[in-house]
Amino acid sequence: MKIFKQIKALIPEPIKIPIRKFRSWKFRGFHYPVRPYSANKLTRIYKNLDTYGKKQLTRWLRYCAGSQDFFAFRTRATNGLMLQQVTEEYADYLTWLKTKNIKKYLEIGIGSGSSFFINNIFIKKSAELSIAVDNVSYDCFGDQLRNINDKFETLRSLNRSCTFKFYQGKSDDFFRQNSEKFDLIFIDADHGYDSVKSDYDHALRALSPNGYIIFHDIANEYYPGVIRLWKEITGSGANVIEYVTKNNYCGIGILSLN
Ligand SMILES: C[S@@+](CC[C@H](N)C(=O)[O-])C[C@H]1O[C@@H](n2cnc3c(N)ncnc32)[C@H](O)[C@@H]1O
Repeated sequence: MKIFKQIKALIPEPIKIPIRKFRSWKFRGFHYPVRPYSANKLTRIYKNLDTYGKKQLTRWLRYCAGSQDFFAFRTRATNGLMLQQVTEEYADYLTWLKTKNIKKYLEIGIGSGSSFFINNIFIKKSAELSIAVDNVSYDCFGDQLRNINDKFETLRSLNRSCTFKFYQGKSDDFFRQNSEKFDLIFIDADHGYDSVKSDYDHALRALSPNGYIIFHDIANEYYPGVIRLWKEITGSGANVIEYVTKNNYCGIGILSLN
Protein backbone atom coordinates (compact mmCIF):
# COMPACT_ATOMS: atom_id res chain seq x y z
CA MET A 1 0.00 0.00 0.00
CA LYS A 2 2.81 2.39 1.03
CA ILE A 3 4.67 1.78 -2.22
CA PHE A 4 1.51 2.61 -4.21
CA LYS A 5 1.18 5.87 -2.29
CA GLN A 6 4.82 6.71 -3.00
CA ILE A 7 4.40 6.00 -6.73
CA LYS A 8 1.19 8.06 -6.78
CA ALA A 9 3.03 10.97 -5.21
CA LEU A 10 5.50 10.92 -8.13
CA ILE A 11 2.76 11.28 -10.76
CA PRO A 12 1.96 14.92 -11.58
CA GLU A 13 -1.39 16.20 -10.41
CA PRO A 14 -4.17 16.18 -13.02
CA ILE A 15 -4.41 19.32 -15.04
CA LYS A 16 -7.34 21.69 -14.69
CA ILE A 17 -6.99 24.93 -16.63
CA PRO A 18 -6.74 25.36 -19.54
CA ILE A 19 -5.85 21.85 -20.69
CA ARG A 20 -9.27 20.36 -20.02
CA LYS A 21 -10.63 22.28 -22.95
CA PHE A 22 -7.73 21.03 -25.01
CA ARG A 23 -7.85 17.87 -27.06
CA SER A 24 -5.29 15.46 -25.72
CA TRP A 25 -4.56 11.83 -25.15
CA LYS A 26 -3.70 10.64 -21.71
CA PHE A 27 -0.79 8.36 -20.98
CA ARG A 28 0.37 7.46 -17.49
CA GLY A 29 -1.14 10.61 -16.04
CA PHE A 30 0.23 12.98 -18.71
CA HIS A 31 -1.85 14.74 -21.32
CA TYR A 32 -0.34 14.98 -24.79
CA PRO A 33 -2.08 17.49 -27.04
CA VAL A 34 -2.88 16.03 -30.43
CA ARG A 35 -4.41 18.99 -32.14
CA PRO A 36 -3.40 22.64 -31.96
CA TYR A 37 -5.76 25.31 -30.74
CA SER A 38 -7.79 27.24 -33.28
CA ALA A 39 -6.34 30.62 -34.26
CA ASN A 40 -9.12 32.40 -32.35
CA LYS A 41 -8.52 30.46 -29.19
CA LEU A 42 -4.77 31.01 -29.43
CA THR A 43 -5.28 34.74 -29.85
CA ARG A 44 -7.43 34.77 -26.72
CA ILE A 45 -4.78 32.86 -24.76
CA TYR A 46 -1.93 35.07 -25.95
CA LYS A 47 -3.89 38.22 -25.14
CA ASN A 48 -4.37 37.07 -21.56
CA LEU A 49 -1.18 35.12 -20.88
CA ASP A 50 0.38 37.95 -18.87
CA THR A 51 -2.61 37.94 -16.50
CA TYR A 52 -2.09 34.27 -15.58
CA GLY A 53 -0.97 33.60 -12.03
CA LYS A 54 2.26 31.62 -11.65
CA LYS A 55 0.49 28.31 -11.17
CA GLN A 56 -1.70 28.71 -14.22
CA LEU A 57 1.26 29.98 -16.25
CA THR A 58 3.37 26.99 -15.21
CA ARG A 59 0.56 24.67 -16.29
CA TRP A 60 0.21 26.40 -19.62
CA LEU A 61 3.95 26.20 -20.26
CA ARG A 62 4.05 22.58 -19.19
CA TYR A 63 1.01 21.23 -20.96
CA CYS A 64 0.25 23.58 -23.82
CA ALA A 65 3.15 25.72 -25.03
CA GLY A 66 5.15 22.83 -26.47
CA SER A 67 8.81 21.95 -27.00
CA GLN A 68 10.60 19.29 -29.03
CA ASP A 69 12.22 17.77 -25.96
CA PHE A 70 9.78 17.27 -23.14
CA PHE A 71 12.28 15.61 -20.80
CA ALA A 72 14.83 18.38 -21.00
CA PHE A 73 12.36 21.25 -20.85
CA ARG A 74 9.95 19.49 -18.48
CA THR A 75 7.05 19.98 -20.87
CA ARG A 76 4.35 17.54 -21.89
CA ALA A 77 3.16 18.93 -25.21
CA THR A 78 5.25 18.08 -28.25
CA ASN A 79 6.35 20.78 -30.69
CA GLY A 80 3.74 23.57 -30.51
CA LEU A 81 5.78 26.73 -29.95
CA MET A 82 9.03 24.69 -29.87
CA LEU A 83 10.07 26.74 -26.88
CA GLN A 84 13.52 26.01 -25.44
CA GLN A 85 12.86 27.00 -21.84
CA VAL A 86 12.45 24.88 -18.72
CA THR A 87 8.90 25.30 -17.43
CA GLU A 88 9.37 26.26 -13.78
CA GLU A 89 12.28 28.64 -14.15
CA TYR A 90 10.74 30.32 -17.20
CA ALA A 91 7.46 30.83 -15.30
CA ASP A 92 9.49 32.46 -12.51
CA TYR A 93 11.29 34.64 -15.01
CA LEU A 94 8.07 35.76 -16.74
CA THR A 95 6.51 36.56 -13.39
CA TRP A 96 9.53 38.78 -12.66
CA LEU A 97 9.46 40.29 -16.15
CA LYS A 98 5.89 41.49 -16.01
CA THR A 99 6.68 43.71 -13.01
CA LYS A 100 9.30 45.65 -15.03
CA ASN A 101 8.79 48.72 -17.14
CA ILE A 102 10.57 47.63 -20.34
CA LYS A 103 10.23 50.10 -23.20
CA LYS A 104 13.09 48.94 -25.40
CA TYR A 105 13.74 45.22 -25.63
CA LEU A 106 16.45 43.22 -27.41
CA GLU A 107 16.71 39.44 -27.72
CA ILE A 108 19.78 37.75 -29.19
CA GLY A 109 19.14 34.16 -30.35
CA ILE A 110 15.44 33.49 -30.68
CA GLY A 111 15.26 29.92 -32.05
CA SER A 112 11.82 29.47 -33.56
CA GLY A 113 10.86 32.89 -32.21
CA SER A 114 8.98 31.52 -29.21
CA SER A 115 10.94 33.01 -26.32
CA PHE A 116 10.86 36.38 -28.11
CA PHE A 117 7.13 35.92 -28.66
CA ILE A 118 6.24 35.06 -25.05
CA ASN A 119 8.67 37.58 -23.53
CA ASN A 120 6.98 40.28 -25.60
CA ILE A 121 3.55 39.31 -24.31
CA PHE A 122 4.87 39.96 -20.79
CA ILE A 123 6.22 43.42 -21.60
CA LYS A 124 3.39 44.48 -23.88
CA LYS A 125 2.03 47.15 -21.53
CA SER A 126 5.24 49.20 -21.70
CA ALA A 127 7.05 48.06 -24.88
CA GLU A 128 7.70 50.61 -27.62
CA LEU A 129 10.52 48.96 -29.55
CA SER A 130 11.39 45.29 -29.64
CA ILE A 131 14.25 43.84 -31.70
CA ALA A 132 15.16 40.19 -32.28
CA VAL A 133 18.53 39.07 -33.65
CA ASP A 134 19.20 35.62 -35.05
CA ASN A 135 21.46 34.33 -37.81
CA VAL A 136 18.96 31.48 -38.46
CA SER A 137 21.63 28.83 -38.05
CA TYR A 138 19.51 26.22 -36.26
CA ASP A 139 18.37 23.16 -38.11
CA CYS A 140 16.18 21.67 -35.37
CA PHE A 141 13.14 23.87 -35.91
CA GLY A 142 11.96 22.90 -39.38
CA ASP A 143 11.64 26.11 -41.35
CA GLN A 144 13.14 28.44 -38.74
CA LEU A 145 12.62 31.64 -40.71
CA ARG A 146 8.97 30.89 -41.42
CA ASN A 147 8.38 30.12 -37.74
CA ILE A 148 9.99 33.43 -36.79
CA ASN A 149 7.95 35.38 -39.35
CA ASP A 150 4.73 33.79 -38.07
CA LYS A 151 5.51 34.93 -34.53
CA PHE A 152 6.24 38.46 -35.71
CA GLU A 153 2.96 38.61 -37.59
CA THR A 154 1.00 37.56 -34.49
CA LEU A 155 2.95 39.95 -32.24
CA ARG A 156 2.24 42.87 -34.56
CA SER A 157 -1.47 42.12 -34.45
CA LEU A 158 -1.42 41.67 -30.65
CA ASN A 159 0.44 44.89 -29.88
CA ARG A 160 0.09 47.72 -32.36
CA SER A 161 1.78 50.28 -30.14
CA CYS A 162 5.16 48.54 -30.32
CA THR A 163 7.56 48.43 -33.28
CA PHE A 164 8.91 44.92 -33.87
CA LYS A 165 12.08 44.41 -35.90
CA PHE A 166 13.95 41.29 -36.90
CA TYR A 167 17.68 41.50 -37.68
CA GLN A 168 18.72 38.37 -39.55
CA GLY A 169 22.43 38.00 -39.00
CA LYS A 170 25.16 37.53 -36.42
CA SER A 171 24.90 39.34 -33.12
CA ASP A 172 28.35 40.97 -33.61
CA ASP A 173 27.16 42.50 -36.88
CA PHE A 174 23.96 43.71 -35.26
CA PHE A 175 25.79 45.47 -32.45
CA ARG A 176 28.27 47.04 -34.88
CA GLN A 177 25.47 48.98 -36.59
CA ASN A 178 23.25 49.51 -33.52
CA SER A 179 22.86 52.88 -31.83
CA GLU A 180 19.81 52.11 -29.63
CA LYS A 181 19.88 51.73 -25.86
CA PHE A 182 17.78 48.89 -24.44
CA ASP A 183 16.13 48.41 -21.05
CA LEU A 184 16.49 44.65 -21.22
CA ILE A 185 18.74 42.42 -23.35
CA PHE A 186 18.13 38.68 -23.40
CA ILE A 187 21.16 36.63 -24.54
CA ASP A 188 20.61 33.10 -25.86
CA ALA A 189 22.63 32.85 -29.10
CA ASP A 190 26.02 31.17 -29.60
CA HIS A 191 26.85 29.50 -26.27
CA GLY A 192 30.67 29.27 -26.62
CA TYR A 193 32.57 31.33 -24.03
CA ASP A 194 34.08 33.84 -26.49
CA SER A 195 30.75 34.41 -28.24
CA VAL A 196 28.63 34.82 -25.13
CA LYS A 197 31.30 37.09 -23.63
CA SER A 198 31.29 39.19 -26.78
CA ASP A 199 27.46 39.42 -26.66
CA TYR A 200 27.74 40.42 -23.00
CA ASP A 201 30.37 43.13 -23.65
CA HIS A 202 28.29 44.54 -26.50
CA ALA A 203 25.14 44.34 -24.38
CA LEU A 204 26.76 46.35 -21.57
CA ARG A 205 27.43 49.16 -24.04
CA ALA A 206 23.90 48.99 -25.49
CA LEU A 207 22.13 48.98 -22.13
CA SER A 208 20.25 51.93 -20.72
CA PRO A 209 21.08 53.03 -17.15
CA ASN A 210 19.31 50.67 -14.68
CA GLY A 211 18.85 48.07 -17.46
CA TYR A 212 18.93 44.28 -17.23
CA ILE A 213 20.90 41.61 -19.07
CA ILE A 214 19.44 38.10 -19.07
CA PHE A 215 21.53 35.00 -19.71
CA HIS A 216 20.02 31.70 -20.65
CA ASP A 217 21.79 28.40 -19.81
CA ILE A 218 23.77 29.63 -16.80
CA ALA A 219 23.51 26.12 -15.29
CA ASN A 220 23.49 24.03 -18.43
CA GLU A 221 26.26 21.44 -18.26
CA TYR A 222 26.25 21.27 -22.07
CA TYR A 223 27.37 24.90 -22.22
CA PRO A 224 30.40 25.35 -19.93
CA GLY A 225 31.16 28.68 -21.63
CA VAL A 226 27.97 30.25 -20.31
CA ILE A 227 28.49 28.73 -16.85
CA ARG A 228 32.04 30.18 -16.78
CA LEU A 229 30.93 33.68 -17.79
CA TRP A 230 28.07 33.65 -15.28
CA LYS A 231 30.50 32.63 -12.52
CA GLU A 232 32.79 35.54 -13.46
CA ILE A 233 29.83 37.94 -13.30
CA THR A 234 28.47 36.67 -9.99
CA GLY A 235 32.01 36.45 -8.56
CA SER A 236 32.46 40.17 -9.12
CA GLY A 237 29.65 40.91 -6.66
CA ALA A 238 27.11 42.00 -9.29
CA ASN A 239 23.42 42.36 -8.48
CA VAL A 240 21.91 39.12 -9.81
CA ILE A 241 18.88 36.84 -9.60
CA GLU A 242 19.04 33.19 -10.64
CA TYR A 243 16.19 30.93 -11.65
CA VAL A 244 17.52 27.40 -11.89
CA THR A 245 15.61 24.13 -11.87
CA LYS A 246 17.81 21.46 -10.39
CA ASN A 247 18.33 19.29 -13.44
CA ASN A 248 21.63 20.75 -14.75
CA TYR A 249 19.78 22.13 -17.71
CA CYS A 250 19.16 25.70 -18.86
CA GLY A 251 18.97 28.13 -15.92
CA ILE A 252 18.13 31.83 -16.25
CA GLY A 253 20.37 34.54 -14.81
CA ILE A 254 19.34 38.17 -14.44
CA LEU A 255 22.03 40.82 -14.11
CA SER A 256 20.68 44.11 -12.87
CA LEU A 257 22.68 47.30 -13.31
CA ASN A 258 20.82 49.22 -10.63
C1 LIG B 1 19.21 28.10 -28.11
S1 LIG B 1 18.54 28.84 -29.54
C2 LIG B 1 17.50 30.07 -28.88
C3 LIG B 1 16.26 29.50 -28.23
C4 LIG B 1 15.22 30.51 -27.87
N1 LIG B 1 15.76 31.62 -27.10
C5 LIG B 1 14.10 29.84 -27.07
O1 LIG B 1 14.12 29.96 -25.82
O2 LIG B 1 13.22 29.21 -27.65
C6 LIG B 1 19.92 29.72 -30.13
C7 LIG B 1 19.64 30.59 -31.35
O3 LIG B 1 20.75 31.45 -31.57
C8 LIG B 1 21.00 31.57 -32.94
N2 LIG B 1 22.43 31.95 -33.07
C9 LIG B 1 23.51 31.16 -32.87
N3 LIG B 1 24.64 31.87 -33.02
C10 LIG B 1 24.26 33.15 -33.31
C11 LIG B 1 24.97 34.37 -33.56
N4 LIG B 1 26.31 34.42 -33.53
N5 LIG B 1 24.27 35.48 -33.79
C12 LIG B 1 22.91 35.45 -33.82
N6 LIG B 1 22.19 34.34 -33.59
C13 LIG B 1 22.86 33.20 -33.33
C14 LIG B 1 20.60 30.24 -33.55
O4 LIG B 1 20.18 30.39 -34.89
C15 LIG B 1 19.44 29.82 -32.65
O5 LIG B 1 18.21 30.19 -33.21
